[in-house]
Amino acid sequence: MADIILGIESSCDDTSAAVIKDRVLLSNVIASQDVHRAYGGVVPELASRAHEQNIVPVVSEALARAAVSASELTAIAFTRGPGLLGSLLVGTSFAKALGLALDIPIVSVNHLQGHVLANFVRQEGVQVREPSFPYLCLLVSGGNSQIVKVNSPLDFEILGQTIDDAVGEAFDKCSKMMGLGYPGGPIIDRLAKQGDPKRFSFAKPHIPGLDYSFSGVKTSLLYFVRDEMAKDPDFMEKNKEDICASFQKTLIDILMDKLVKAAKQTGIKEITIGGGVSANSGLRTRISEEGAKRGWNVYLPEFKFTTDNAAMIAIAGYFHYLAGERCPLDAAPVSRIAEL
Ligand code: KG4
Repeated sequence: MADIILGIESSCDDTSAAVIKDRVLLSNVIASQDVHRAYGGVVPELASRAHEQNIVPVVSEALARAAVSASELTAIAFTRGPGLLGSLLVGTSFAKALGLALDIPIVSVNHLQGHVLANFVRQEGVQVREPSFPYLCLLVSGGNSQIVKVNSPLDFEILGQTIDDAVGEAFDKCSKMMGLGYPGGPIIDRLAKQGDPKRFSFAKPHIPGLDYSFSGVKTSLLYFVRDEMAKDPDFMEKNKEDICASFQKTLIDILMDKLVKAAKQTGIKEITIGGGVSANSGLRTRISEEGAKRGWNVYLPEFKFTTDNAAMIAIAGYFHYLAGERCPLDAAPVSRIAEL
């Protein structure tokens, strides 16, 4: 008999529910929270409240779109962390209550594992290429920048990670600093398409091994803009496309340098990307070009699976469920998870 899993994601500012039947996606509903835009970043308390308002309608909609009744569910997979504690509490409590009411098991999922496994979501009528194990995943989001070696759907090794800011944070904070808006990634991505990536250069970090650092490049941009604006107050407005293109290129160079190094060190040529920043058009082009040059098999997730979504939580939960893992009812959400 098929396993039907309801996935629930509430780690940050998207309330999402998805239904999969074995590995095939039946529905994936995402309610994004626009309330944060006015504040230039996610306000944790507002996020929890919005999750509380959204969770019941979002789950109902996911079941309706999947044409699955709650009584047909085999298990519920939910994001236990990392993320904002108040946001995680909503999804965790909801999953527990629904699991109890339906008398079915619940499975907890590490949000990052969801991003790393997003390529395994199958869709009716869509040809999806799946990486073979072991593969490397460049996991890049607002909270993380890591190179993960994925040995199996349940076995992950972090080969390198940021020692300070995440790359998504660099996009978001710099966009805010340049007065371009929030979230910064998509805005800088759009402006960068019209600019010259070689016009300006920003400092790159020298970090040993496979770890990343993005705080230096952020500061480099800050000083550059401050100095140029002192000479010409319109500098930003006149040059924003070139600044964005050059800044984005610097971030991509930093990401790619270590990814190339990791691929060389491990001899792995199966390469994926995941997390919100994997939607970046410059990064997607660059990783594909680098892959063609180096004989990698590159797997790019569909855009809808790059940012937070419950489909990836459902698929990660499915693998845990098959392995016999069950989450106890006293499990609390965790805001930080040091290890995948
Ligand atoms: O994975 P995600 O939705 O949330 C978590 O951080 O968990 O990632 C959000 C991040 C934000 O920093 C956002 O600016 C970035 O992903 N992002 C992008 C793009 N789309 C979203 N960054 C660069 N280019 C994009 N097109």
